[in-house]
Amino acid sequence: MPEHPSAAKVTDPQPLCPSSELNERGQAFVFDVMHFREPARGFVLRFDGQVVAYLNRCLHVPTEMDWQHGEFLDGDKEFIMCSIHGAAYEPLSGRCIGGPCGKGTLTVLKVEEREGQVYWYPSRDTQPVVFE
Ligand code: FES
Repeated sequence: MPEHPSAAKVTDPQPLCPSSELNERGQAFVFDVMHFREPARGFVLRFDGQVVAYLNRCLHVPTEMDWQHGEFLDGDKEFIMCSIHGAAYEPLSGRCIGGPCGKGTLTVLKVEEREGQVYWYPSRDTQPVVFE
């Protein structure tokens, strides 16, 4: 049976925000995604000059991690820290480095910065929200 057209996967880069919106170790840009067809959020932030993006879902309990909307870093702005029980993640890799998140890594979302704009590249598992 042919696949329904809406089942087609989006692979085109999705513009997220202007580069200028992401300050070094500042507030993240949060965006809606469909992760395995379930609504979820991703976030992108700048750390050591690089833009990095992850699914906003802690490895301890699958819940969102920000302290306030878009605030993911600890007080010293060294780690991504979950606001629920304090799991700490290395910002450039997403690897758990302390707290109740074990040996896992946050789900990495591929992003790229070019010509003053930040783009997200959807994957097979994580797709843009389609409004019908
Ligand atoms: S839910 Fe994130 S540390 Fe527990």
